[in-house]
Amino acid sequence: MTRSTHAWTDDAATIGVAGIDGPLRVLHVTDSHISVPHEEVDRPYARYGERMDRLFADYPTVDSFAAQMEHARAGGYDLIALTGDHVNYPSPTAVAAVQRLLRSAGRHSMFTAGNHDWSYSGMPGSDAERRREWRERSLLPLYGGRAPHADSLDLGGVRFVAIDNSTRQVDPEQLAFFEGRLAGGLPVVLLAHVPFRLPDDRDLHRAPPPSSAAPIPLCGDPESGSPADIDRRLPGRERARTSGNLPSTEEFVDRLLAAPNLIAVLCGHVHVAGAYPIHDGAVQYVAGPGYLNRSRTITIRPR
Ligand SMILES: [Fe+2]
Repeated sequence: MTRSTHAWTDDAATIGVAGIDGPLRVLHVTDSHISVPHEEVDRPYARYGERMDRLFADYPTVDSFAAQMEHARAGGYDLIALTGDHVNYPSPTAVAAVQRLLRSAGRHSMFTAGNHDWSYSGMPGSDAERRREWRERSLLPLYGGRAPHADSLDLGGVRFVAIDNSTRQVDPEQLAFFEGRLAGGLPVVLLAHVPFRLPDDRDLHRAPPPSSAAPIPLCGDPESGSPADIDRRLPGRERARTSGNLPSTEEFVDRLLAAPNLIAVLCGHVHVAGAYPIHDGAVQYVAGPGYLNRSRTITIRPR
């Protein structure tokens, strides 16, 4: 198995991979946190959006996303990788705005949801229930016909796999899908919202978003599964069960750490750019947040 080589900054990464067709350029955009003025269809849920509207009121989130999509179009990128939290809550109006801008780029895209994409703060229901409901009700336009829970796309000899881990859990169906996509040996780039727990992740989950100074549990962290409710710090939020991670989440992370043909994980959630080696051929890349007009250009080229 040939290992890939990596070089990176906060805004760019170059990955050298043996046996691929030619250079591929990916624009990784995450955590745009877009709110737009409410339309009639949003009004019944407006009060659940107030907290997030307030948190991001000072950022030109729509303009930043528009600039990134224009950059993707003009730069002739092969793929736009969107790793979640592009809207602050599943307002159909905000989703339509994101979809319109994404389309204007005219590039291939892959979207996987973040917790905020399906979550109206303080709305009752478990994370899994709210994700199931709002992905169907609001978010489908962002997937461009791809499967929201787990999907893959082969491009230029590289396999891009999207796994929705926005509840911080990976279910058995997603684990089986990922195993199947790893088989065959193509170099794999995984897109997911929440970074995965790594043996040496240093400050990765210490990076606070503007909403919290608390450490952020990662996917596979022992504390992530208990309680399995991403809004648990909100006042009035019911405390969820304390059952620990799903066995499939633990297995997924173990599989990821050992997968020889994994070359990169692209993720967001923590709002601070970073790059964290997974093994000697793979790096977990966290892009800086879209709401600060950050993104990362990833060039995958033959070596
Ligand atoms: Fe976020």
